[in-house]
Amino acid sequence: MTTLKKKVTASTLLADKQNGHTNVWLTAYDTTSASLAEIAGVDVILVGDSLGMVSLGFDSTIPVTLESMIHHTAAVVRGSDKVWVVCDLPFGSYQQSPEQAFESSAKVLQQTGCDAVKIEGGVHMAPTIKFLSERGIAVVAHIGLTPQSVKKFGGFKKQGGNLEAAQIILDDAQAVSDAGAIAVVLECIPDDLAEKITQAIAIPTVGIGAGKACDAQVLVWHDLLGLSEKNPPFAPAYAQLRDTITTAIGQWADDVRSGKQP
Ligand code: KIV
Repeated sequence: MTTLKKKVTASTLLADKQNGHTNVWLTAYDTTSASLAEIAGVDVILVGDSLGMVSLGFDSTIPVTLESMIHHTAAVVRGSDKVWVVCDLPFGSYQQSPEQAFESSAKVLQQTGCDAVKIEGGVHMAPTIKFLSERGIAVVAHIGLTPQSVKKFGGFKKQGGNLEAAQIILDDAQAVSDAGAIAVVLECIPDDLAEKITQAIAIPTVGIGAGKACDAQVLVWHDLLGLSEKNPPFAPAYAQLRDTITTAIGQWADDVRSGKQP
């Protein structure tokens, strides 16, 4: 376990790529989990709009609102100190125009105190990333399997599986890097494509289901800790907290019913 001594910044992440130092990103959605992630030594907390699926009971990220993201990101910022905190801009809060993206980002940064925003999309979002970056906003891009487009993809499916699709993702990565993104999440793409992208672009790649060549790895809190009913195939569970929690609650309930507690 490496507890962070200095505040992580955008420059730290770039320097770590250049020095071959792999970064660890983890999602979190509240103050307690943020402080545990920080104590455990993660570099970056992503307040993902996966919030909608793992904590709010939706079957996709599409219903998540900007207000929800602000509420949860502010809680994460209150529970952390040194990690770099990134807030996902949710569906509908940035796609319409660079101006809409700026307005949403400004609300997020002013009302939460987080460090960066994340948006989904490659070549077609590059002008928006450039617009935000030129106005001082740290932006993380997200390409490959972009969950806000799940209805278009027809499910949570691996992307970039043939030459043409792989070239589109490579172009996306180059475009967001050139536009000024600080890092790019590569979700669910072939390992060799992620490796090619990681070597080709200047900014750190953050893999989830994209193999070990990426500059950083990210996982969803509930998957890592065994809280999800079912993990995606690429997400290992390092604990079985579903079992631990239900057993503890069940034992206490038995003790209350039998008069052993309080
Ligand atoms: O919303 C999220 O948690 C994400 C990660 C899966 C990268 O975008």
